Amino acid sequence: MVLGVGVDIITLTRMKDVVDTSGAVFLNKVFTPWEQERSRTHPDPVAYFAATFAAKEAIFKTFGTGWDEGGEFTEIEIRDGPHGEPLAVLSGKFAELAARRGATRVLVSLSFDGDYAIGMATLT
Ligand SMILES: CC(C)(COP(=O)(O)OP(=O)(O)OC[C@H]1O[C@@H](n2cnc3c(N)ncnc32)[C@H](O)[C@@H]1OP(=O)(O)O)[C@@H](O)C(=O)NCCC(=O)NCCS
Repeated sequence: MVLGVGVDIITLTRMKDVVDTSGAVFLNKVFTPWEQERSRTHPDPVAYFAATFAAKEAIFKTFGTGWDEGGEFTEIEIRDGPHGEPLAVLSGKFAELAARRGATRVLVSLSFDGDYAIGMATLT
């Protein structure tokens, strides 16, 4: 059963600006140590950060809650599946929210075109 859907779009230009101006403060607030390490081997770290951010926002939207209910961007980790597909791993508040909803999976899909990165997510 589909329990929630979410989508988010961001430009690579906007992500580059944020990384350039806020640097480590932004990166540590949003990306887990595993994701930051992954970005170092990615051919295009800005595109990687943009798509990963869009995935996290899309997953946040599947819950339909506000940030004031708690939850950190770093409690959503976007990993690489065996075939290159993104896999979401929830922890902390987001894992709690998913359990409370009776959700067993968060499916996520990413796409790029030019300056745009988009993430969409489904909670099942
Ligand atoms: C609520 C949030 C999802 C808004 O995201 P956003 O990127 O500013 O806005 P988007 O255009 O992607 O999404 C807006 C739409 O999301 C939906 N939305 C709003 N709050 C939502 C929520 N709590 N749950 C699900 N969907 C929500 C609404 O349909 C909204 O459209 P509306 O403004 O016409 O009502 C929120 O996570 C947020 O403000 N994130 C911070 C953004 C940020 O840090 N940006 C820095 C980027 S580098």
